[in-house]
Amino acid sequence: MIARIRGNSKIEGEITVGGAKNSALPVLASLVLISEEIKIEKIPDIADVSEMISMIRSAGVAVNFEKNTVLARPSNLKGEIREFGSSIRASILLLGPLAVRTGHAELRYPGGCSIGKRSIDIHIEGLKKLGISVNEKNDMIEAIFDKVLKDVRIDLRFPSVGATEHLMMTSVLLNGIHTEIRNCAKEPEIVDLGKFLNSMGAKISGVGTDRISIDGVKKLNASVHSIIGDRIETGTYIIGALSSGGMLKINGISNNVMHNVTNELKKIGAKITASENALIVYPSNLRPFKLSTGPYPQFPTDLQPQMTLLACHVNGHSEITETVFENRFRHVDELKKMGADISVDKNKIEVMPSKLHGAKLVGNDLRETATILFAAATADGPSEIEKFEIIFRGYENIYKKLKDIGIDFEILKIDREVS
Ligand code: EPU
Repeated sequence: MIARIRGNSKIEGEITVGGAKNSALPVLASLVLISEEIKIEKIPDIADVSEMISMIRSAGVAVNFEKNTVLARPSNLKGEIREFGSSIRASILLLGPLAVRTGHAELRYPGGCSIGKRSIDIHIEGLKKLGISVNEKNDMIEAIFDKVLKDVRIDLRFPSVGATEHLMMTSVLLNGIHTEIRNCAKEPEIVDLGKFLNSMGAKISGVGTDRISIDGVKKLNASVHSIIGDRIETGTYIIGALSSGGMLKINGISNNVMHNVTNELKKIGAKITASENALIVYPSNLRPFKLSTGPYPQFPTDLQPQMTLLACHVNGHSEITETVFENRFRHVDELKKMGADISVDKNKIEVMPSKLHGAKLVGNDLRETATILFAAATADGPSEIEKFEIIFRGYENIYKKLKDIGIDFEILKIDREVS
């Protein structure tokens, strides 16, 4: 799919963000653990969520998804899912829970955005401690659950978001076993998953700290849960507004989960105010900056490509260091096609102020496509973005939202020259 973006737009107006993709995916994966009916609200209607729902349906969970609400009922679980899952990284989260529930799980090898090696060694090490042996077979991955006889302690070599969620979910139904996970990731989405599991009767403490304890229970009860707002969607719109000098109100998000981003932006001169469930971004004179990404509460890697765009618009030389993924600078080549002056040295980039013009661009991963979309919207002249459909993986209702904030675009069926 090719999108033609008109350019020369100011990003302004009012927008409401959806539920967090990275909270919805683990919460949906954990539905293979349920024994009673569950209702979850604010599930974003995006491609990655559809893939996860297809996977849990294929495992035997009855799911109805309408108007951002999931109603789920347990039925006969099976541990083997062959048809779905290779396009999202979060599919790995089903491995341990399905193995515990069925004794044997087999899934396609997890996929996702191509932003680095994205190995799963931390997951596998942790699963082993929980009595699960894992075999990789061509493009499939198999897990066999034997049993755990004594309490478990797992030390993560890196605070992986996915491994923290996966091991937490896998431990929940190890009845009578106490599991302690150390050096955990602390992202708000992990806290949301912990709240959901505890609302069903799980016994988890310490979520949001680097030490999580789980006392396994026999079964989970009926519950209702609402997913937190998407902080990366929010950050994308904040940075878009700041890079175009527009005033934007963003509803559906609490600054409690945004402070690591808004504080960093305020430090460089951004004017942002927060009320209970909204943020307002004002036109601001920004200073150049030095920024490094890292596990929460450090600056999120998922907003690093967007910050590269912002750096093009400030008056001076900025530096950005990426510490989470090995290969997350593919947006740099696209921004350079638009006239950006950026140099890459291993995991660090230097960005000089640059006036961007329209160009023919290609989307490669989710956050990069969002970045070049906003770059194209604010550049001088029209742009075309190939593989634009990647945006549907993580940005809900994007056509309407783009129009609402002043971005003019059309979807082209066939490739053609930018005039
Ligand atoms: N890692 C390993 N071994 C593992 C697990 C991770 O080496 O077993 C490495 C990864 O290769 C990576 C780093 O550790 O270099 C961080 O990976 P992590 O496991 O923390 O990330 P994830 O769970 O795969 C989630 C988000 C990503 C987000 C990262 C970091 C979901 C579904 N995905 O991925 O979101 O970038 O945490 O915050 O929650 C996105 O939304 O665009 C996105 C990529």
